[in-house]
Amino acid sequence: MCGIIAAATDRSVGKLLIKGLYKMEYRGYDSAGIAMHVEGDVAHLRTLGKVNLLEDKMKSEKPKGKVGIAHTRWATHGEPSEINAHPHQSNDRVFIVHNGIIENYLDLKNELTTQGYTFYSKTDSELIAHLLDHFLKTNDSLLKAMQSLKNKLEGAYAIAALDQKDPDNLVLARNRSPLVIGLGKKENFAASDPLALAELTKKFLIMEDGDVARISSNQVEIYDEQDKLTNREELSIDVNAEASSKGNFRHYMEKEIFEQPGAILNTLDGRIGGEDVLDNIFGEGSSDLLAKVKRVQIVACGTALHAGRVAANWFSAISGLPTQMDYASEYRYKNPYIDEDTLLIAISQSGETADTLAALRYAKEKDYLATLGICNTPTSSLAREADYLLLTNAGQEIGVASTKCFTTQLVALMLLTLALAKASGKNPRLRGRIIEALRTLPEKISDALKLKSDIVDFAPEIANKDNALFLGRGIFYPIAKEGALKLKEISYIHAEAYPAGELKHGPLALIDEEMPVVAIAPEYELAEKLASNLEEVKARGGALYVFGNAKEKLDLSTGRYISMPECDFLLTPILYSIPLQILSYEVALLRGTDIDQPRNLAKSVTVE
Ligand code: G6P
Repeated sequence: MCGIIAAATDRSVGKLLIKGLYKMEYRGYDSAGIAMHVEGDVAHLRTLGKVNLLEDKMKSEKPKGKVGIAHTRWATHGEPSEINAHPHQSNDRVFIVHNGIIENYLDLKNELTTQGYTFYSKTDSELIAHLLDHFLKTNDSLLKAMQSLKNKLEGAYAIAALDQKDPDNLVLARNRSPLVIGLGKKENFAASDPLALAELTKKFLIMEDGDVARISSNQVEIYDEQDKLTNREELSIDVNAEASSKGNFRHYMEKEIFEQPGAILNTLDGRIGGEDVLDNIFGEGSSDLLAKVKRVQIVACGTALHAGRVAANWFSAISGLPTQMDYASEYRYKNPYIDEDTLLIAISQSGETADTLAALRYAKEKDYLATLGICNTPTSSLAREADYLLLTNAGQEIGVASTKCFTTQLVALMLLTLALAKASGKNPRLRGRIIEALRTLPEKISDALKLKSDIVDFAPEIANKDNALFLGRGIFYPIAKEGALKLKEISYIHAEAYPAGELKHGPLALIDEEMPVVAIAPEYELAEKLASNLEEVKARGGALYVFGNAKEKLDLSTGRYISMPECDFLLTPILYSIPLQILSYEVALLRGTDIDQPRNLAKSVTVE
């Protein structure tokens, strides 16, 4: 999704802005642009495509300035093009970059057109530049114009703006779209993602909804919703600069797959002790709160919802709690069942997914027992707004297709399962067994990573197909769904997942030699039933790729069998995720796709 970086410095700002844009590339985008003050004028450069093209343009035009704004755009209103790229400008005076969606843009656009403003782009963002220009006619500063503007805008926005007549200052505004201010020595910055400022500062102020701010190289002023000068708490965030390098890996996704043993250790660190989960790991008083939970409601999107689907099995089997699950984008519109014994859980690696946040905010207005966030981003809106929180501590994830954030979400959700069971005194021996298994999980994950060479062997067989089917039963069905999602996201092969028992109710019609079928088949109560389902595939010529640990139970004269490491059954969904991630990665590599930034997708989906 879109990314903003802005800086007011005492040194040349161009390279700094470009570097920040490179750091935000992982979010997914289609065009980029910069506006900066240059000796009484504003240099305005935009390109369709990647940041390196913008950098080339900067190198050939060589604008020199100290104060500027820059943006990567992920198209919502209007196709990807240079004219739709940010910054947008009005009368060569006001230049803006914007993340979010202005919901009343058509009304505002009509008003502005009547006043004589010409719109060059198809975006909702351009009106912000014109409206600021309009307010500058009656206000003596961009800051005041921005304060007037925010009363007119409906929707979500993070805005950075500059006024050609005021070369020292930048003005910012935030509502429901992330924006942080970074504090430096004789320089100050703003960004929608702290990672963009990774090598520039560790000192941050997080803007709140309704805030407007003015920054120069030596001053930061923040005004609250009521336009009163305010202070926001200074946070020290060590945005791991290493996260922005791939090391020896070919892609961030590959690096993140191999980081999983360490990431899981971090999720567990300080949360388990002896034979149980520690008390209050979800925040002060959380253990008492969990004792009151009678029901669970999960909201999330994409991969995070798959983690929730696995957890629903655990909540029921280990904590004895019924769970309702919803796509965050659907939940608010279905008149959800709500009662005061229900815990609402929002899962999101970014903590900024618009639908998940909207669901959380909706829930906070209702009579739930409490809200609890599982999140990987400490500075995110979700981390700040949920009543209780567990950070997954996986480290920054850059690849659009989530890997280590998924498995650490699963670990966090298992900790929640154990905490819920502990709070109501359920299953003490089982809890002890799972804690032991969690301790050895990083090693098991390392073993599963060694399957890479086997997978590389047969990946070409899948890479030349157009479709794939993933099968799993029970607790492995969500893992099959996640495997199919990974494959389609990064290799663009159409992939679907089914609980294997459903095969004969439709998908069997699709099976022939052209249909690879990936099955998750560990030894468990459904293994034999799954084996029969696989026979149905074999009988119709489908090519089987089976991940399991009981080969003798399957008659696999044809197809591939990948022997998985042994692991406590309740944690196998986490372990079996690993080879499926590697499979998608290797297939995508063969197909030559843009693995870290697959077409049309974004890392952090900040629009509904
Ligand atoms: C996007 C990403 C997915 C992610 C989903 C939810 O679609 O590409 O990888 O699973 O958003 O994101 P969240 O940050 O809420 O976990």
